[in-house]
Amino acid sequence: MTGTETSGRFTARYPQEGTGPIPVERYTSNAYFEQEKTAVFRRKWLNVGHELQAPKPGDYFVVQLQVADTSILVVRGKDGVIRAFHNMCSHRGAPVAWDAQGHCRGFLTCRFHGWVYDTTGKLVHVSDAGNFPSVRAEDNGLAPVHCGVWNGFIFINLAKEPEETLDAYLVPVAEHIGRYDFSGFVPAFSYRIDENVNWKTLQEAQLEGWHLPFLHEKTLARAVKVEGRQYRHSAIELHGLHGVLGSPPPDSFTPPPTAMLASQFGTGTVQAFGTKADKGADGYQFRGSFDFWHLFPNFFIGLLDGLFFTFNIWPVAVDRSIWEIKGYYPPVSNAGQLFAQEYSKVGLRDPMMEDCFTHELMAAQLKSGAKPVIHFQDEEILVRHLGNGVDQCVRGLA
Ligand code: FES
Ligand SMILES: [Fe+2]
Repeated sequence: MTGTETSGRFTARYPQEGTGPIPVERYTSNAYFEQEKTAVFRRKWLNVGHELQAPKPGDYFVVQLQVADTSILVVRGKDGVIRAFHNMCSHRGAPVAWDAQGHCRGFLTCRFHGWVYDTTGKLVHVSDAGNFPSVRAEDNGLAPVHCGVWNGFIFINLAKEPEETLDAYLVPVAEHIGRYDFSGFVPAFSYRIDENVNWKTLQEAQLEGWHLPFLHEKTLARAVKVEGRQYRHSAIELHGLHGVLGSPPPDSFTPPPTAMLASQFGTGTVQAFGTKADKGADGYQFRGSFDFWHLFPNFFIGLLDGLFFTFNIWPVAVDRSIWEIKGYYPPVSNAGQLFAQEYSKVGLRDPMMEDCFTHELMAAQLKSGAKPVIHFQDEEILVRHLGNGVDQCVRGLA
């Protein structure tokens, strides 16, 4: 063995994850991807956003889910309830909402021929109704999708009857993440990246920090503990199909002068690497200087002190995926706070661009057929866990 010795500590704790090589076919096979669509994305609970994206009655947003061949309309009803529907008019299938997000006064009108639906999905007006003698409005509402909200996060399930409730799906993590105080944040920024890469390759770079001293040598690596050239997570925990990474704080960290300046005005990434305030016995207990939770199959919540961010990673095709990034910060009320927030935002963007660059190069090379397998080590056990979880779903075991 070369480099810093390692104990295999996570593999020892989670021997069921195995240590063997991983078939490249899982990333390149169209047939396998089709199985993932059915066995994972049409069965499991999926995060589609946050209720802060639709805070007022009549607010709505649309999520394109190519992986399930549909687009989903999420709307807050007059009664304040968040509901989800297939975004498809019952007349001839046009989208009912054409914008990515918007507001309606209680009704959504199809722009093609003017059929109207209320925010509970009921069809309330059929244009030229006399010429549709066999159409009964009560049978032709929007097609509903199972939907639930947890701590503000909106989840849907595309199964006719989900195999488990949203609460049951979240049981392994709810007790942990649920202690974080999510109040007082607003959506501050978002990025959307369209990449030529398999959705698992895209996620895998976010499921281990071991690459930080290499790929992010000039960015993130300065803010974590690195021994020699090795990064060791402060914690990795597997919780059902989900899991969390804790990032070890550096022994000393001197942020760049601009970051120090920004942090004087408001919330930014510098705080993330500081000592965590004591949250009390019932508060969220950080595993590291920041914690990165993965909710199977494709949702991440990054918890920091004073801000959080999320990733949704959506497969489009076996070799194409969308990476949605959303940051939630305390509301800004002056220019200094805005400066701090903007600085923090670009601080997150730069390492993400380093990741993106690598994703596409890897995806192109995995297709070459030059290697039948790839390998994961102990610090990459959460990467292995994702692949194992997907494979178990495909085999009908999870
Ligand atoms: S497709 Fe919507 S009214 Fe015709
Ligand atoms: Fe990275």
